[in-house]
Amino acid sequence: MTIEETPSYDLLVIGAGAAGMMCASVVGQAGKKVLVIDHASKLAEKIRISGGGRCNFTNLHAAPNHFLSENPHFCKSALSRYTSQDFLHLVKRYRIAFHEKHKGQLFCDESAEDIIRMLKSECELGKVQWRMPCSINTLQKDENGFIVDTQQGVVSAANVVIATGGLSIPKIGATDFSYRIAKQFGIKIVEPRPALVPLTFDAQSWAPFVPMAGISLEVDIETGDKKNKIVFREDLLFTHRGLSGPAILQISSYWQPGQNIRINLLPELDVANALIAAKTTTKKNLANFLAAYLPARLVDGLLSAQGFDGEQKIADMQDKRLRLLGEKMNRWELLPSGSEGYRKAEVTRGGVDTRELSQQSMMVKAVPGLYFIGEAVDVTGWLGGFNFQWAWASGVAAGKAI
Ligand code: FDA
Repeated sequence: MTIEETPSYDLLVIGAGAAGMMCASVVGQAGKKVLVIDHASKLAEKIRISGGGRCNFTNLHAAPNHFLSENPHFCKSALSRYTSQDFLHLVKRYRIAFHEKHKGQLFCDESAEDIIRMLKSECELGKVQWRMPCSINTLQKDENGFIVDTQQGVVSAANVVIATGGLSIPKIGATDFSYRIAKQFGIKIVEPRPALVPLTFDAQSWAPFVPMAGISLEVDIETGDKKNKIVFREDLLFTHRGLSGPAILQISSYWQPGQNIRINLLPELDVANALIAAKTTTKKNLANFLAAYLPARLVDGLLSAQGFDGEQKIADMQDKRLRLLGEKMNRWELLPSGSEGYRKAEVTRGGVDTRELSQQSMMVKAVPGLYFIGEAVDVTGWLGGFNFQWAWASGVAAGKAI
């Protein structure tokens, strides 16, 4: 095939996920010729499995402070130009039933498939073309744009958007494609690591807590030193290998290996004061007293793991000892040994260094026509619909600039 016969496009989007489909639809609807390529056979598998199958598609309170990045200001421009209300408007236009779960988190009433269908329809309105499943062999830049050798032949494109996401959940098609392309063009990467991920502990130190698997309770959780402390109030879940639940997923994005996490198991109660006050008002033993506030199975396990006898009468205990127990309950310090890794992580922290990109357009400053959007970029949202909002907003930012 000669260059003249090579199919040519205004835009090639690599990655038919949340950000890629959003971007393709915007550019297609502006009358440009768009091709989307994905190596998977199904569209947007991550949307399909997100939010327990109901897709937490945005968050009403999405703001830049809900995102982690080495360059925290980078996300402001895209997020302010395409807000959660803009996406909600689209959802309402497609009459997709939704509800707010809590803290501004919006979920589909029926199924995440509704969001996939909506994005597919938006792409169809823009006459977007697809090649799926189709892998990319090489991507080269020449004076006219890009020449891309794919499993289904060579295509050329004036612009290329890399929307292949991060490394989480390799079994549904996550790859390091975006980082490889970045390296090929000499673009810096912030070291990727699993985020929004359960934390694990070494088997020996976790053994006393294994029987607590399945217990869930609302806690305050924090990590970091005085200057960089971050606190979340969310549900904590005990598992066989460690801790999970929204509290842990949130803190995991901030946690650095070797750092402690601190958990306040009873954020609304000063346990030491309550125990000392109870010395004169109750005949209860420790376990019975605490079982009024926490699941009995958790109380028993915690007391024995911390070296306290649950049978001991509170009235017989010294204040010093009760203060120590209070400290353990209100400020339980734990040293995770690691995380469940990309196998279980909802997102990847790090990625293409935002200092290499224009914050208005997501284009690589040094490579005109090449863009990175979505999770591939070093912008990571909190749990609660923020990551999809970034995918939509960065996709639109690039789409409007092309
Ligand atoms: P995304 O991962 O969506 O898409 C990337 C696409 O690129 C995929 O289609 C993939 O097949 C393709 N691709 C990868 N490598 C390729 C290659 N080499 N060649 C060609 N194609 C390639 N967020 C949120 O806000 N609310 C939620 O409810 C959830 N829930 C949730 C649950 C679970 C289990 C996970 C794992 C993640 C979430 N998330 C979430 C996070 C959210 O799914 C994620 O941030 C976005 O999907 C990122 O969108 P992207 O388009 O950047 O990547």
